[in-house]
Amino acid sequence: MDETIIGIDLGTTFSVAARLDADGHPETLVNAEGDRLTPSVVLFDGDDVVVGKEALKAIGTETEHVAECSKRDVGHPVFHKVIGGKQYPPEVIEAWILNKLRVDVTAQIGPVRRAVVTVPAYFDEVRRKATQDAGYMAGLEVLDIINEPTAAAVAFGHQKGLLDRKGETEPMRVVVYDLGGGTFDVTVMEIRGSHLVTLATDGDVRLGGYDWDQRLVDLVAEGVIRERYVDPREDLVAAGKLWRECEDAKRTLSARGKVVVPYDHHGSVARVEVTREQFEESTQDLLDRTRFTVNQALKAAGLAWNRIDRLLLVGGSTRMPMVRRMLREISGLEPDASVAADEAVAHGAALLAGQLLAKSQGKPPRFKIKNVNSHSLGVVGIDRETQRRRNGILIPRNTPIPVTAHRVFRTRKADQKSILVQVVEGESRSADECTEIGKCTVRSLPPNLPAQSPVDVEFHYKPDGRLQVRVTVPDAASKIEAEFARENTLSQEHLDGWRRYIARMEPEP
Ligand SMILES: Nc1ncnc2c1ncn2[C@@H]1O[C@H](COP(=O)(O)OP(=O)(O)OP(=O)(O)O)[C@@H](O)[C@H]1O
Ligand SMILES: [Mg+2]
Repeated sequence: MDETIIGIDLGTTFSVAARLDADGHPETLVNAEGDRLTPSVVLFDGDDVVVGKEALKAIGTETEHVAECSKRDVGHPVFHKVIGGKQYPPEVIEAWILNKLRVDVTAQIGPVRRAVVTVPAYFDEVRRKATQDAGYMAGLEVLDIINEPTAAAVAFGHQKGLLDRKGETEPMRVVVYDLGGGTFDVTVMEIRGSHLVTLATDGDVRLGGYDWDQRLVDLVAEGVIRERYVDPREDLVAAGKLWRECEDAKRTLSARGKVVVPYDHHGSVARVEVTREQFEESTQDLLDRTRFTVNQALKAAGLAWNRIDRLLLVGGSTRMPMVRRMLREISGLEPDASVAADEAVAHGAALLAGQLLAKSQGKPPRFKIKNVNSHSLGVVGIDRETQRRRNGILIPRNTPIPVTAHRVFRTRKADQKSILVQVVEGESRSADECTEIGKCTVRSLPPNLPAQSPVDVEFHYKPDGRLQVRVTVPDAASKIEAEFARENTLSQEHLDGWRRYIARMEPEP
């Protein structure tokens, strides 16, 4: 029998693993502690690395050894906090989380080596690559990466029995509003029976429940200062403890009009009351940012609210009443909370995983997904007049993928030896404001090539949002291929070293 492929939602604050049961329905797999959600928190306790609930508890005691919200730093070379004197790449911390999921699942259902992992739709190419690398270091083969809102829509489609409808069906237009712990995504989709087509996507990779927590921490800290004349945010451990209390209090405020947050550190004791009204007022600007982004996405899809059939809520933070109220107001629709806010994404990934398994057995697909790219892709050029580095966009955002684009560059002078092509992602005209993905250096140009000789650069965006680059020199007698060198990513050697260390416990590379 073929080994299962699991679906993993690698969240900023919680991660979830799921698979398809014998009847083809997605089911969440519990972790070693018996929980469906695993906190995405890692405690580096000497040589021991502890992931999940216990690591989360340690935030209030051994704060300096705990890494939380590593997903927010993905795309950067190192995690913002130095832990035990070390600066870990964020994807290495994520690899520990994935490794725990893999080990816990293996204990239940036998060895699991292959997975589908989800990413925010708004993740750029560099972050997608880093997520795949995290899976690799965790001893997994990441067969596909799928956008979180799309995964949620797949779970929704399955739940509503839409995926198995054959033939023509009325298209259902869905806005997926996904506000999780650390990221915000909005995606406009059309579900045409078993075809899920993304029309537009937008988001913010640093906006989520964690930001709401921080505002509550600020409110409570001000209360503590008034009562005790100390600022808990200035002490690492006190701040860690307070954040845990506030995350819990925030949940209370989704159910009640007020909450009392206890504070107790080094004999300094306080109880600070916060009302829902105060909390909502202090976080209004965060909510406004999501409102703005939703409207932008609708505009990009060329649709108005009256053409939208469903407004699907995904992500734990959509439990906040202020979110639902705002969405009701702007859309005139009753937000649909029928999919499990924190499990739907993993379930969608499991459905896709099941589909990949079926495909490998020669079975036809149950559903088809069509995606768009979330960021424009361009190459750096120099503006002749200003000498500034400009972003020459080749593939605009929201283009259906896969897509291939070509750009012909010309050598500047006769007998030029090399050509440098820099690839960036982003919307700005200025290349410096975009994310550098990498560069291609064509070194061995044939001798005596005249000035203005063409060099063809091909960009191919795959359905998972990953990029391939190919360079050819038509005038060269033999084929010239150039390596695409990425910025800010771990080398294969490092990846292998971490993989051996994390997944099989060998000495750290
Ligand atoms: N009842 C509630 N009221 C308010 N917030 C809640 C509630 N339940 C969960 N949350 C918040 O939801 C967030 C977790 O949601 P979720 O698991 O969807 O995020 P994630 O997948 O970890 O993050 P992301 O998708 O951004 O990477 C946390 O910030 C948590 O505090
Ligand atoms: Mg999530």
